[in-house]
Amino acid sequence: MQIKRLSDALGAEITGVDVADIDDVEFAEIHAAFLEHQLLVFRDQALEPEPHIEFSKRFGAIETRPERPFTLPGYPEVSVLSNRMVEGKPVGVLSAGDFWHTDLSFGEIPCRATFLHALEVAEEGGDTEWSNIYTAYETLSDDMKARIADLRCTHVFDRRRNRRAQVDAQFADKADEIYGVPVPDAVHPMVRQHPETGRKSLYISPRFVVGVEGMEDYEAQPLLDELFEHQIELKFRYRHTWRQGDLLMWDNPCLIHIGRGDIKSPGIRHMHRTMVLGDRPH
Ligand code: OGA
Ligand code: MN
Repeated sequence: MQIKRLSDALGAEITGVDVADIDDVEFAEIHAAFLEHQLLVFRDQALEPEPHIEFSKRFGAIETRPERPFTLPGYPEVSVLSNRMVEGKPVGVLSAGDFWHTDLSFGEIPCRATFLHALEVAEEGGDTEWSNIYTAYETLSDDMKARIADLRCTHVFDRRRNRRAQVDAQFADKADEIYGVPVPDAVHPMVRQHPETGRKSLYISPRFVVGVEGMEDYEAQPLLDELFEHQIELKFRYRHTWRQGDLLMWDNPCLIHIGRGDIKSPGIRHMHRTMVLGDRPH
C-alpha cells in the first residue's frame, strides 16, 4: 500500500490496495491515514455495492433512509448520484452538494464519513472540492476564538429557510414534498471537537447553518458571513478531478465540501455513495 499526500491543505492518495479485500493490518493503516489526511483517494477500485457497504461499516453505523430519493434498488444504504437520464428522467441525484457543507449536519447525529465511488466520470466537469475546517479554526485570531468558543449554531435542512442556499432545480416542483417532511433542526457547537483526534474545527457551513443560538441576526449574520468566507480560503482547499474507479472517503467533522457540477454534455458522471454516522458534536 502506498500513501501519497495530495495537497498542503488535506488529502492523500492510496494505491496498491483493494478495499473490497483488506485485512486488519491494512485497515489500521487506512484508519491512521484517514485521521492524518482527512480525505483518502483510493484509485482503481471495482467495488460492488456489498463490499462498498462492508468497507464503510468498519468506520461506523451505516446511515439508511429508505425514503430518500434515488437509492440503489435493493440497497437503501447506497445513494445514486448521476446525470444519466432514462426516458427523460434522471436516475440519480443531479447535484448533490452544490453549496459548501458537511454531510448531514442538520441531524442530531451527523455523518462521520462519506464514501463516494465513481463508476463513470465525464470527460470534463464534476469536480469536488474540500476545505479543511481544522485549519480554518486554528488560523482564527485569539480574539475570534474567544468570541466563538461557546456559540451554538442552528443547522436546517430546508433550503427555503436559508437565504444563502437556493431550492434545487431538480426538486423545485416538489419542494413541499421534500422539505415539507419535517426534519427537526439541529443545534451544534460552532467549535467542534473531533471524536478521535480531539482537534477542534470550525463546524459550520453556508448550506446548513442559518443562525446562532441566542444571538440576534443583526449580529449573527455578519459574524457567519465572515467565518464562511474564512473557512473557504484557497490555502485550506483541495480540488479533486475524478477518475473512473476512484473511491473517496472523507471525514465530515473536520472538512466541508462542494460539488462543482458543470458536467460537459454528453458526459455521464455516475456515482454510488454510502455514509456512516458519528458522534453527537461536542
Ligand atoms: C455528497 C456530495 C458532491 C459531488 O455526495 O455528499 O456532496 O461532487 N457530493 O458529488
Ligand atoms: Mn455532501
